[in-house]
Amino acid sequence: MRFRHTLLCAVVLVVATYSQAQDAYKASLIAKYPFYKTATGRFAPVYPALAEQIVADFGITQGICVDVGGGCGSLAIALTKITDLQVCVLDIDPWAVRLCNLLVDEAGLTGRIIAVEGDAQAMYLRDDLADLVVSRGSIFFWPDQLAGLMECYRILKPGGVAYIGGGFSRILDPQIRTPLAKWKQQAAKEGRIQGWRPITEELIQQARQAGITDIRMEREPLVGWWLTIRKPARADN
Ligand SMILES: C[S@@+](CC[C@H](N)C(=O)[O-])C[C@H]1O[C@@H](n2cnc3c(N)ncnc32)[C@H](O)[C@@H]1O
Repeated sequence: MRFRHTLLCAVVLVVATYSQAQDAYKASLIAKYPFYKTATGRFAPVYPALAEQIVADFGITQGICVDVGGGCGSLAIALTKITDLQVCVLDIDPWAVRLCNLLVDEAGLTGRIIAVEGDAQAMYLRDDLADLVVSRGSIFFWPDQLAGLMECYRILKPGGVAYIGGGFSRILDPQIRTPLAKWKQQAAKEGRIQGWRPITEELIQQARQAGITDIRMEREPLVGWWLTIRKPARADN
């Protein structure tokens, strides 16, 4: 009886210590990737709406999706919940990548989403890999935006679509969207967003000259800029 009690106490202690260590690890990742707080706080309603919009617009619900600059995986998680897509989240920030994989496990999506470290401007993913490439809020920070677009195009399967830009989804409830857009405008005005560069008409022209013939830009109300890129299907497809 005494032995059983001691054993039970030891097991409880081990489990408690393990779970404390897990919590401390997660907290340490969040401290190194502060955008997590925005993504899971103020921006939380954006991702399910954006995922729904992407599925409605492009109808791609199976195959491989790459989320370039996908951070801690909020859009990937939202997309995975409403599709059968396998998602690769690629991000340059090693802490975001680790946090993403941890959050994926917590969401019970292990095996559906994998986060990897990588630079949008030189991805080590193979040509013609992805049915869908998405990227929200990242291109504005790529030093060579054209190189990043060319990479997104390279990894896209013939017949695939890339949706790259930033915003809060045009189908998000305006009562949520309008204050968010105004907050973003104010943050930009006060210079609180460091290193942000817009998508320009010149970039689009450069992409066309470099061979991305089907590219178009769409604006969202107040704030939001999105590029839709389609890679032509091969004649034998
Ligand atoms: C504003 S956050 C957006 C994160 C995520 N897409 C979202 O909407 O929640 C920008 C992300 O782009 C990533 N990023 C910036 N430059 C990058 C690059 N060259 N290659 C890959 N990721 C990059 C950052 O590490 C960061 O996670």
